[in-house]
Amino acid sequence: MSKKKLLAALSVAALLSGLTACSSTRSDSSSSSGAGASGAAGGLIGIAMPTRSLERWNNDGAHLDDLLKKAGYTTSVQFADNKVEQQITQIENMINQNPKVIVVASIDGTALSPVLKKAADAKIKIIAYDRLINGTPNVDYYATFDNYQVGKLQGEYIVKTLGLDQGKGPFNLEPFAGSPDDNNAKFFFAGAWDVLNPYVKSGKLVVPSKKAPATNDDWKSIGIQGWSSQTAQSEMDNRLNSFYAGKKVNVVLSPNDSLALGIEQSLESKGYKPGAEWPIVTGQDADLANTKNIIAGKQAMTVWKDTRSLGDQVAKMVDQIVKGEKVEVNDEKTYNNGNKVVPSYLLPPIVVTKDVVKEKLVDSGFYTADKLGL
Ligand code: BGC
Repeated sequence: MSKKKLLAALSVAALLSGLTACSSTRSDSSSSSGAGASGAAGGLIGIAMPTRSLERWNNDGAHLDDLLKKAGYTTSVQFADNKVEQQITQIENMINQNPKVIVVASIDGTALSPVLKKAADAKIKIIAYDRLINGTPNVDYYATFDNYQVGKLQGEYIVKTLGLDQGKGPFNLEPFAGSPDDNNAKFFFAGAWDVLNPYVKSGKLVVPSKKAPATNDDWKSIGIQGWSSQTAQSEMDNRLNSFYAGKKVNVVLSPNDSLALGIEQSLESKGYKPGAEWPIVTGQDADLANTKNIIAGKQAMTVWKDTRSLGDQVAKMVDQIVKGEKVEVNDEKTYNNGNKVVPSYLLPPIVVTKDVVKEKLVDSGFYTADKLGL
């Protein structure tokens, strides 16, 4: 099939699924309270999510959808299977349905300029959700967790747990970074590396694979495309096979849970056993499988970003935009997208370790005890 035909077919498929998403509007939405009940809002809101393959985006999409419907809006929620072209087509189809706002969690934050120009021409406002969209003036707001802080928390956890400030070491470290096309990945790495690199330089952290970026800007050299668990697993297999004869790895900097999962599988397949010899593995998102691994002693920590609060904030911003009110932001300097500084709302991420799983994740209602096998 030619590229043109393929795109046309994708458009139709996306349009159909968009219509399904709209028509699946829950029947209780119009009777619930919120902006709709007050009569001031309503209308269509587009939600473009990157993929269903990662738990967090399913939760993000469902929660935001639910909030907006309760506030009286109709929604079109789309997931793009981590394919950039598919996401562009989905956004194009949303534009054709004339929504008031489109919320975009981008796959490639540099690929959306043309489609967002069309949105701007149609007077549709854009909120970048979790991931910044780069190189365009046509992104109005950004809502996310403090991405630099996510990495910093991972780095600080490693320093504290290993006792590096007490002069302990040297320890063997293997660092990983996120997807090279995701603007967040740079911030996660910078936050962690600003904390860890001084110990690499002083020799307290040794990187046997030599895959230690010299500076923050070199992070893409250890980036895992598409945040793939499988790629992280084979990369870890390679490092253990090639550089660890007669050695043990003590700590793995993993930027998120999907990478951590692959890394943990690799460790297991190479004979590491949970307990004293299992390395510290970091993560992010508090995905279910990883939270279970934390309980089982296969992952030391995760940086939890309560996606419900991100959804709450974004739903509020949507409502403020539609009503013509002042949109709440708390950072107007950090996120320069290469074209402008995008007014942002940053939420605080939280460290979760085994001893606080119940307090943070169960007591807050993020997971039931049952789901975690507690
Ligand atoms: C998100 C992370 C997520 C990663 C992979 C990042 O942009 O901020 O929470 O783990 O994408 O989907």
